[in-house]
Amino acid sequence: MLYCPENCNVVDVRLGKLKMAKSKETVSKRQSYDDVWKNDSVDEYFKADIPQKMLELFKQDRVQTVLDLGAGDGTIAVALAKQGKTMHALEISIEGIEKIKVQAQEAQVSVRTLEQDMYQALPFENSSLDAVIAFQSLNHNTLPNIEKLFAEITRILKHGGLFIVKTANFNSFDLEDLGGGLYEDSHGGIPCTLKFLDKQTYVPQDGPEKGLIHYAFLPEQLTEKIEKLGYTQIYAEILQWHILSMFKKN
Ligand SMILES: C[S@@+](CC[C@H](N)C(=O)[O-])C[C@H]1O[C@@H](n2cnc3c(N)ncnc32)[C@H](O)[C@@H]1O
Repeated sequence: MLYCPENCNVVDVRLGKLKMAKSKETVSKRQSYDDVWKNDSVDEYFKADIPQKMLELFKQDRVQTVLDLGAGDGTIAVALAKQGKTMHALEISIEGIEKIKVQAQEAQVSVRTLEQDMYQALPFENSSLDAVIAFQSLNHNTLPNIEKLFAEITRILKHGGLFIVKTANFNSFDLEDLGGGLYEDSHGGIPCTLKFLDKQTYVPQDGPEKGLIHYAFLPEQLTEKIEKLGYTQIYAEILQWHILSMFKKN
């Protein structure tokens, strides 16, 4: 039996009962990340660095309005607000939202917070944003749901807008591709057992993200999926555990 906070029923995901699993799985994500952000000394494992390349692109392309998906404690959103960006920080964890507000207040900048699951419709007009960023946050779902999110991001981005994503790299696993089963591996460098539900889709059985569903892309797969939606990849970097990829909407 899988560990799963709030009985999130990941087994039903494997059986294809995606609708039923969705809302319960969302609750488990919120609780799990509430536990993370309650902690004052959050492990760097949960926080991404701001890529220099992104800052350069933001300057070149005169990016003003940015949505940060899965903004965590707001470190990135606040840093961008300090540079004068109009920031929208979307986050499922209530504790995360509180931290964003505190950090923004301390830095005396304005960051609009949205307490929401990013897999629900995003509350923005069509073609209204200059950039959408998602650092280590959009990989907590199944591939079909992540693809729906990509379509939603495409709807709200302006033409010429930037989509910048840092997400789990399946090539960083010491594994052949797996449709199911339990495997010993590491997750972000932490030894752990992974339960595979489907291709590239797994649930860590221990460690800091125990019980949370994950999907890890292959770098070329991520590029192909997003370019098919009408983007050009303008930058890619393969990091130890992640893919950092930047796209411009055509
Ligand atoms: C590893 S942390 C990264 C935080 C931040 N992006 C950074 O790099 O510092 C992932 C964040 O995504 C949030 N998250 C995960 N799934 C989400 C979802 N479905 N909707 C909104 N936020 C989500 C988590 O609550 C968590 O704060």
